[in-house]
Amino acid sequence: MSETINVSGTTKEEKYASLLPQLKGLAEENDQYAALGNVISGLKYSLDFFWAGLYIVKNDELVLGPFQGTVACTRIGFGKGVCGYAWENKKSVIVDNVDAFPGHIACSSESKSEIVLPVFGKTGEVVMVLDIDSDKYNDFNSTDELWLTEVVHIIESIVNI
Ligand code: SME
Repeated sequence: MSETINVSGTTKEEKYASLLPQLKGLAEENDQYAALGNVISGLKYSLDFFWAGLYIVKNDELVLGPFQGTVACTRIGFGKGVCGYAWENKKSVIVDNVDAFPGHIACSSESKSEIVLPVFGKTGEVVMVLDIDSDKYNDFNSTDELWLTEVVHIIESIVNI
């Protein structure tokens, strides 16, 4: 298993394409915490995001899981904020300007745009969400959604529930 990440390319597509097989390598670690921590770190630092992490469904709320970035809100209710919206609606959400999203939960004033993707368990329920934040407006598009959906599949293979 590779324990360093080397991302090549200049475009987002190229960077994601070179990153993905390396994240799959990190996911081969049997310990779930170790694997998830490394996948999130690889993602955050390779694409130079402001914040990347998982919120895990526990009863009726999302609880902060493995992440890289500044200290974040620890609990988010069902349907609350962008993360809660993605959980409730079982779909990915791209927010170009977080200030314009009703009910956005501002963990950091530096976060300007974000993408949140649901992570599904074997029976189709949302078990966590992947939350990526940028310090730039309009930083996420369908390219990110496409590639991050592949990252979500890697996360689902690690969690395997
Ligand atoms: N942006 C999220 C809150 C989590 S922080 O960004 C890490 C939201 O509104 O759901």
